[in-house]
Amino acid sequence: MKLAVFGATGGTGVELLRQALDAGHEVVALARDPGAVPVRHDRLHVRRGDVHDPDSVVGVVDGTAAVVSALGIGYRRHATTVYSAGTGNVIAAMRDAGVSRLLAVSTSSVRLPPRSRFAEYALARFVLHPLLKRPYADMRLMEQEVRASGLEWTLVRAARLTNGRRTGRYRVASDLPGCWSISRADVAHYMLTRLTDAATFRSAVQIAY
Ligand SMILES: NC(=O)c1ccc[n+]([C@@H]2O[C@H](COP(=O)([O-])OP(=O)(O)OC[C@H]3O[C@@H](n4cnc5c(N)ncnc54)[C@H](OP(=O)(O)O)[C@@H]3O)[C@@H](O)[C@H]2O)c1
Repeated sequence: MKLAVFGATGGTGVELLRQALDAGHEVVALARDPGAVPVRHDRLHVRRGDVHDPDSVVGVVDGTAAVVSALGIGYRRHATTVYSAGTGNVIAAMRDAGVSRLLAVSTSSVRLPPRSRFAEYALARFVLHPLLKRPYADMRLMEQEVRASGLEWTLVRAARLTNGRRTGRYRVASDLPGCWSISRADVAHYMLTRLTDAATFRSAVQIAY
């Protein structure tokens, strides 16, 4: 399958590239600095561009069968539009190109867990939400856009990301108690093994060990 990957220089994005190529896919990736993509392969085509620039996004999405996005700003706390405007440009390009399948990484704590799960609630409510108020606000906008896109979307709300190995063994549910951590490699594994899984279309899931 021919895939478009956004966020290809990031931790999860590199895992997406490696695992997609290992699985035999052809990959078109967008990078602001193509030299920062640490993977080389004859089935990997890296295009220079920025998701804020609609033209560079079109060239990546066109002709692909699915789009996977791990766009983000790391642990930085500043205001951003990379999630909302960036993903908005991806969605627009997909509509124009007739590409319908989108999997995008979001964060498990973007919504507060129920108060009854006190430790998770307290971490999200009193630490993560105040610290990451601005990126989280933009992530919520992204989620709204994805839900309203009319595409065959899956929002993958990851727990705290680690650089651990791929295990292929993790929990996934719309609401996951004890959603503490997951490796970037396993997030990529989940996304790439659900590319054509209609049961995951139009759903937001949490993923954690
Ligand atoms: N950190 C956590 O514990 C955690 C937990 C749950 C969910 N998440 C989410 O998981 C996702 C992946 O996280 P990660 O740590 O693997 O990613 P990351 O290392 O922060 O990588 C983010 C990627 O997005 C790209 N990007 C940013 N702005 C861009 C722009 N304007 N145009 C094109 N590309 C742009 C970056 O490219 P450059 O190299 O050019 O900057 C990079 O490739 C993010 O959405 C993050 O918010 C993180």
